Amino acid sequence: MNIFITGIAGFLGSNLAHYLIKKGHKIYGNDNFIGGYKDNLSDKFKFFDVDCCNFDEMNKILENMDVVVHCAATAYEGFSVFSPSFVTKNIYEASISTFSAAISNNVKKIIFCSSMARYGEQNFPFTEDMNTKPQDPYGIAKVASEETLKNLCEIHNVDWTILVPHNIVGPRQKYDDPFRNVLSIFLNRMIRNKPAIIYGDGSQKRCFSHVDDCISCIEQTLQNKNTSKEIINIGPDEEFISIKDLADKCANITGCNEKHIFYKDRPQEVKFATCSANKARKLIGYKTKHTLDNSIKSTYDYIIKRGAKEFDYKFNIEIENEKTPETWKNKII
Ligand SMILES: NC(=O)c1ccc[n+]([C@@H]2O[C@H](COP(=O)([O-])OP(=O)(O)OC[C@H]3O[C@@H](n4cnc5c(N)ncnc54)[C@H](O)[C@@H]3O)[C@@H](O)[C@H]2O)c1
Repeated sequence: MNIFITGIAGFLGSNLAHYLIKKGHKIYGNDNFIGGYKDNLSDKFKFFDVDCCNFDEMNKILENMDVVVHCAATAYEGFSVFSPSFVTKNIYEASISTFSAAISNNVKKIIFCSSMARYGEQNFPFTEDMNTKPQDPYGIAKVASEETLKNLCEIHNVDWTILVPHNIVGPRQKYDDPFRNVLSIFLNRMIRNKPAIIYGDGSQKRCFSHVDDCISCIEQTLQNKNTSKEIINIGPDEEFISIKDLADKCANITGCNEKHIFYKDRPQEVKFATCSANKARKLIGYKTKHTLDNSIKSTYDYIIKRGAKEFDYKFNIEIENEKTPETWKNKII
């Protein structure tokens, strides 16, 4: 199959590309390096330095593709409250331009990586039949992209699947970005014996998925008819852990003995967020292969191998006021 992966220099996109190449697929992809790392690329796949928002270029490079897996995004949930224009452009506009170019090139299927931000604050674990209730611009842009994808695919008769990953961790994830990826931020600080920085009291809870447990689901989605026109949560629903306990685990593995530091909680942060994996179990035989400890260890090993480093505050904060986290305003992380 000819498979095009947007955001291929990113964490999920690059892991998926390397995995699918081993499975014998021909892989193509693009990125604009807002996120990701250049060394996530490989000469085993064809790379285009193209922004998804550039429809004309996307229309050219999607020629002859069978499936498009749309991973490109500004995956910034908390930050989207303070830089909504930047985040929305690279979620909504980038998605619609990609979908439009894919459909105009007669692809057979579009797979869209959404986010559990689509669920917002409601009873957990979140199931796919719940109404969407996003509570920040990131989640709103993901839901708007989902709706437009379904609409366009119905009209133009293209197959689709919407996948809902949640808190993915593992090798190739950006760990020097102060605005997202809590586990990588903790490890990148604590390896350098800097304390974990926690928003609120740390009792907010999440489930963490090893990236390999997500890409095997995406592979299933390429051809498995059960996934046609379905929204599917991917990743484990086991080992629901508080952020404070996660920081404790990071202290254990890094040997950091500095006390965690607590800052004011961030506006709109969902307290308890976990997704049910029942539908994935039923439709694609999902089974979690990586434990949380194992996922932390593999993220830790990756950062150690590449080298812990200072955080890069490369994005502008569009809205700076008393609600903007001090950690970002004053570059504390
Ligand atoms: N990592 C997670 O925990 C998580 C959780 C839920 C959903 N997701 C979703 O999964 C997908 C992949 O996330 P990730 O963690 O790999 O993020 P990532 O930032 O590592 O990768 C995204 C890539 O997209 C690229 N990109 C952004 N805007 C672009 C544009 N306009 N044109 C071209 N490239 C662009 C970035 O440069 C980056 O390399 C995203 O859609 C994200 O919203 C991720």
